[in-house]
Amino acid sequence: MKKLWWWLSAFVLAPGVAEEVVSSLVESLTMDEKYSLMDGVDNYGFVGTILNISRLGIPAIKMQDAGNGFRTSDSRMIGQVTSWPCALALGATFDRSAAAAFASAAADEFEEENRAGANMVLGPGLNVHRVPRGGRNGEYMSGEDPVLGAELAEAWVAAFQAKGVMTCAKHYVLNNQETNRNSYSAWASERVWAEVYSKPFRHAKESAAAMCSYNRVNGTYSCSNGASLGKLKQVFRGWVMSDWGATQATTVEEGLDQDMPGDDGYFSAKELSEVPTDAIDSAVSRILEPIVRLGLLNQSSACAPGPECDVLLYDVNATSEAHAELALNLATASTVLLKNDGILPIPETATVGVVGSACNASNDLVSAGWNVGNYYVIGGSGRVIPAWVVSVYEGIANKVDNVVASLVDDVDAALALDVDVLVACAGATSAESYDRDTLSLDQEGFLVNLAAAASNVVAVALAPGAIVAPFAPDAKAVTITFFGGAPTGTAVANILFGDVAPSAKLPVTIPISEDDVVAPCEAEDCYYAEDLYVGYRALNELPVMFPFGHGLTYTRFHFEWQTKPRCSTTTTTTTTPALRSRALSIRVTNVGNVAGVETPQAYVTYPPAAQEPPRILKAFDKTPLLPPGASAILTLDLDHLAVFDVVTKNWTLVPGQYVVEIGASSRDLRLNHTFVLLADLLVSPF
Ligand SMILES: *[C@@H]1O[C@H](CO)[C@@H](O)[C@H](O)[C@H]1NC(C)=O
Ligand SMILES: *[C@@H]1O[C@H](CO)[C@@H](O)[C@H](O)[C@H]1NC(C)=O
Ligand SMILES: *[C@@H]1O[C@H](CO)[C@@H](O)[C@H](O)[C@H]1NC(C)=O
Ligand SMILES: *[C@@H]1O[C@H](CO)[C@@H](O)[C@H](O)[C@H]1NC(C)=O
Ligand SMILES: *[C@@H]1O[C@H](CO)[C@@H](O)[C@H](O)[C@H]1NC(C)=O
Ligand SMILES: *[C@@H]1O[C@H](CO)[C@@H](O)[C@H](O)[C@H]1NC(C)=O
Ligand SMILES: *[C@@H]1O[C@H](CO)[C@@H](O)[C@H](O)[C@H]1NC(C)=O
Repeated sequence: MKKLWWWLSAFVLAPGVAEEVVSSLVESLTMDEKYSLMDGVDNYGFVGTILNISRLGIPAIKMQDAGNGFRTSDSRMIGQVTSWPCALALGATFDRSAAAAFASAAADEFEEENRAGANMVLGPGLNVHRVPRGGRNGEYMSGEDPVLGAELAEAWVAAFQAKGVMTCAKHYVLNNQETNRNSYSAWASERVWAEVYSKPFRHAKESAAAMCSYNRVNGTYSCSNGASLGKLKQVFRGWVMSDWGATQATTVEEGLDQDMPGDDGYFSAKELSEVPTDAIDSAVSRILEPIVRLGLLNQSSACAPGPECDVLLYDVNATSEAHAELALNLATASTVLLKNDGILPIPETATVGVVGSACNASNDLVSAGWNVGNYYVIGGSGRVIPAWVVSVYEGIANKVDNVVASLVDDVDAALALDVDVLVACAGATSAESYDRDTLSLDQEGFLVNLAAAASNVVAVALAPGAIVAPFAPDAKAVTITFFGGAPTGTAVANILFGDVAPSAKLPVTIPISEDDVVAPCEAEDCYYAEDLYVGYRALNELPVMFPFGHGLTYTRFHFEWQTKPRCSTTTTTTTTPALRSRALSIRVTNVGNVAGVETPQAYVTYPPAAQEPPRILKAFDKTPLLPPGASAILTLDLDHLAVFDVVTKNWTLVPGQYVVEIGASSRDLRLNHTFVLLADLLVSPF
């Protein structure tokens, strides 16, 4: 194995000017001012606040949850912010532009003028799903794959921060379950840490901050873990803040720059005065760097933290018709068509029976505890309570006239409806602070029995993440929507009736049995024994109900090669970059009868010496909506090929023979090509 140039060093520093501004600010700050930048103040309306230092133009940092939209942390906010589909739903779009569209619009609801002057969002959530029952999986855009997370995170962070709202990638790191989240220790190899769990965070390196998590990493609390925080900071120029209450000590020298919400005393002036000044200065520089880089210095502020912000926070309506429409488009684009035996799209002339209580799921969260969710939104700090929802029943009834309903979980009542198509719903909830008890949907039995008894069942799952779907073999069609937010029912109806071509792909595997996947660890020491075999990588030899990356539409596509990767041709010193390209291009043609969208995915199998699981996602792209007969040429760049060498502690390229397979899912592989990679080709260390 040959070591590669660690080209990231080129990105570590902001452009010279910002750097100069930061160092001159650090010189001008008193020690007490520095300490105040490193410690939150509580009870200022926002979920977290750092006070302003106006004499130097340093704004207050007003932080609000979360990656799913503006958290309705006070009931007065309900209806004034948009109830978006959750972050995992964005993952299901496999679409960078969807992530950017969400982030750009959501940022408008956070920022000074339109909202309450929150200039920081506590998101995106990037943890790669290790445990399908993980309570916060709905907040984690990466699904089971770090390349999916990394690519979407880059787009999300760039779009949010372009609006002047700082982002905070979370929860770093190995925060893969909620069970014992305040104490469990995740024991993972350096390699899986590097290649899987921390990869989306490194790609979010432009993010103003990252948040260290509650759990321990290899025995040491995440916010006290110099090894793990140090590795992040090799690529990341922003600051590290603690999760709320995750600070265990005054661990500035270990890499914790800011204690949030700041009520534990670990970062009091008294404690920080014991810390060497250069460690303080380094932390303060990291906090100031994004403020300067994003142009937030010397900006006038809409409100000073405290009561002055209340009017904006509680009385300004930040949502709009345009945002509601975008939320609907995203919810539709995130609804995955898992199965269709020809019953969909439902013709307008068909009679439709809508059955099951979940098709009329209620939305009563206003008086519920903070960590209660429903079938539309996740519970916990990522919750945006919708002022209204469109149930699946309403979504369908709003679209067509021939609808009858039996909105209870009663198979006989459902069968008694004399209709062409039976749309049957089931859902599950999840929330921060505990893991799901099961992957089964709450009305699983109803769906199983109904699908067995009737030959016209369309099963609609409203889910927090992976599920088991024992009803799927008998159902004629199956869709899944990952917490679609307020417009859920309209989004589902858009797909069922074909108003919009289904275009989403599964960001997680739907296994056949819960026993096939990793359960939450109940012990205090959790060993990541599966190592690199995370999610779909572990299931290669097993049948699954629906594989990672799967998602149908109402047409068919043909894939053909345009350009195969040319890595094998020559070396870095003798050729032009074009000839060293690992880019490949394919032509995707709609060979069916209606317009559609396809998302080709490139899976790579490494040479044996690399010791990687087979068929790992390395690139994906989406076609535009293609009419019948139309085609698009897509370029997929295989620039995620380096592996982490635990001996040299560095990223390397493994020379040898690679196979790239291009598919419509991880198991529907249409094209392949074998190529040889020479050792001296540059690759990015990702
Ligand atoms: C990784 O390798 C590059 C190139 O050999 C070197 O510059 C860099 O310092 C190495 N990084 C580590 C962490 O060893
Ligand atoms: C913070 O801003 C408010 C409002 O502009 C101002 O009254 C206050 O003095 C500032 N605090 C500091 C420490 O600069
Ligand atoms: C965590 O501990 C394991 C077992 O002791 C070790 O193999 C691994 O390298 C450590 N991981 C990290 C990220 O340091
Ligand atoms: C911010 O304002 C201060 C004082 O008004 C000024 O000295 C400084 O140059 C300004 N900094 C930037 C980056 O504009
Ligand atoms: C906020 O504005 C939206 C869009 O104009 C509107 O539908 C909604 O009712 C308003 N919310 C409140 C609480 O008035
Ligand atoms: C849906 O459920 C609500 C109670 O949550 C009930 O009032 C309403 O009548 C139900 N809708 C239909 C169409 O049955
Ligand atoms: C590669 O594609 C060829 C031609 O379509 C096919 O025959 C072969 O089985 C594929 N190989 C692999 C490893 O998938």
